[in-house]
Amino acid sequence: MEPTIAKTEKKEGAGVPIDTLKITDTRTNKQYEIPIDDGTIRAIDLRQIKIDDADFGLMSYDPAFMNTASCKSRITFIDGDKGILLYRGYPIEQLAEKMSYLQVAHLILYGELPDKKQLAEWTEHIRLHTFVHENVKRLIEGFRYDAHPMGIFVSTLAALSTFYPEAKHVLDQDTRQKQIWRLIGKVPTIAAFAYRHSLGMPYVYPDNDLSYTENFLSMMFRVAEAKYKPSPVLARALEVLFILHADHEQNCSANAMRSIGSSQVDPYCAAAGAAAALYGPLHGGANEAVLRMLDEIGTKDKVPAFIKDVKDGKGRLMGFGHRIYKNYDPRAKIIKKMADEVFDVTGKNPKLEIALELERIALQDDYFVKRKLYPNVDFYSGLIYQAMKFPVDMFPVLFAIPRMSGWLAQWQELITDPEQKIARPRQVYLGYQRRNL
Ligand code: ACO
Repeated sequence: MEPTIAKTEKKEGAGVPIDTLKITDTRTNKQYEIPIDDGTIRAIDLRQIKIDDADFGLMSYDPAFMNTASCKSRITFIDGDKGILLYRGYPIEQLAEKMSYLQVAHLILYGELPDKKQLAEWTEHIRLHTFVHENVKRLIEGFRYDAHPMGIFVSTLAALSTFYPEAKHVLDQDTRQKQIWRLIGKVPTIAAFAYRHSLGMPYVYPDNDLSYTENFLSMMFRVAEAKYKPSPVLARALEVLFILHADHEQNCSANAMRSIGSSQVDPYCAAAGAAAALYGPLHGGANEAVLRMLDEIGTKDKVPAFIKDVKDGKGRLMGFGHRIYKNYDPRAKIIKKMADEVFDVTGKNPKLEIALELERIALQDDYFVKRKLYPNVDFYSGLIYQAMKFPVDMFPVLFAIPRMSGWLAQWQELITDPEQKIARPRQVYLGYQRRNL
C-alpha cells in the first residue's frame, strides 16, 4: 500500500524552499513531512502522528535533555567536539586575556562589550548595590556555625526576594534591570559574609574603592588592616576565573533558572533555585569534590590504584568528563596555564603533583580515551582557590558569584522571548491505570 503523506505547514518564510524530515509510521503506514529549522524539528510537530483519532499523538522521550533544545539563544556557543567556547561570539581565551569580569558580564547580559562610558556607568551601578540590608546580615548570623556556605548562599538569595517585593514585576524592563544590578552587586557580599560566619569573624563591609574581585577578597580576608589591598596577581587570577565561569549555555543551573523563571517568579527565587542546582557534585560542586578526591588519594604513587578503582566502577574521577565537551575543556586549559602565575605568589599547591599525574595517566588510558573524558573547568580551579586560601567549602560559592551574570542573561532572554511559556515537560506514564479501593 502507498503511504499517505501529511504535511506540516511552515509558519515562517513562506515561499522559501524548506528542508523537511520525512517520517513513515510503520504502525499505520502513513508518512509525514516535518519542517527542519535551524537544525531542529519541533517536537510538537510529532503530535500529529497518531494511530487513530483517540490517540494522544507521538512525543519524544528525552530524559536529561540529551538531544532537546529548550530555547533559541544568542548568548553562549559551545562546540564540544572541538573544545570551543564563545560568549556572544568572542572566544573565551581572548576575553580571559584582555577583559575584566564586569566587562564580560555586560557582554553576556547586553550582547556587546561596554564602551568607556557604558563601563563606567555599569560599574557604578554594581558598586552602588554591594551593600546588603542589616537584616540580611542578621539572617546569616542565624545559621549554625558549621553551616555550609553554599547552603547559606542559596537561602540568602531566596530571602532577598522578601526585601525587594517589587522584583516580582518581571515583565517590566526597568524593574528587571534594577534586580540585575542588585544581584551582581550583592553576591560577593553574601558569599563573603557566609564565609566569615563559619569562622565566627566579624563581617567586612564592601570597600567600594576596590575593583569587583579586590573588594571580594577584602571582604573575605581583611582582618585589622586599615585598607586591604590584595596581590594584583591574585585579584587578576580571580577575575579570569570569574570570566571563565560566567556562563555556559543550557547547563543544569541555567536550565533551572529558566525553568523556575518561566513561572514568572522574581529573579531572587529563580536564582536561589539555580544556585541550588549548581551546588550538586555533578555540577558546580565538582571543584569541591576534586579537592576531597585529591586528599583521599594522598600521594602521587597511589594514583594508578585510584584510576583502577574508577575503572572498576568504584567512583568517578571528579573534574573529568562533560556532557558537552568531548575534548579538553578550553576553560581548563586557561586555568592550567594560569596556575603557575598564582603558585609563584602563593607557593605551589602540593596536590598539583597528584592532579597532573591523574591527568597524565587518564589521558593515556583506554577507558577515558574511548569515553572522551577530559579535564573540565573544575579539575584545576580548586587547586588555585585552595592556594589562594579559600576553604574547600567555598568553592561552589566561588562558582556561583560569576555565574550570576549568566543566569540573569539566560533569564532575561527567556522573559523577552515570545516563544517561551511556562516550562512544563510531558511524561511517559507507566503506573497503574485507574483502580478502585
Ligand atoms: N569518571 C569516570 N567515568 C566517567 C566519568 C568520570 N568523571 N564521567 C563519565 N564517566 C563514564 C560513565 O561511567 C559512562 O561510562 P559507561 O558508558 O561505561 O556507562 C560514560 O563515561 C558516560 O558518562 P555519563 O555519566 O553518561 O555522561 P554524562 O554526560 O551524563 O555526565 C558528567 C557528565 C556528569 C559531567 C560526568 O562526566 C561526571 O560525573 N563527571 C564528574 C563530575 C564533574 O567533574 N562534574 C563537573 C562538570 S563541569 C561543570 O558542571 C562545571
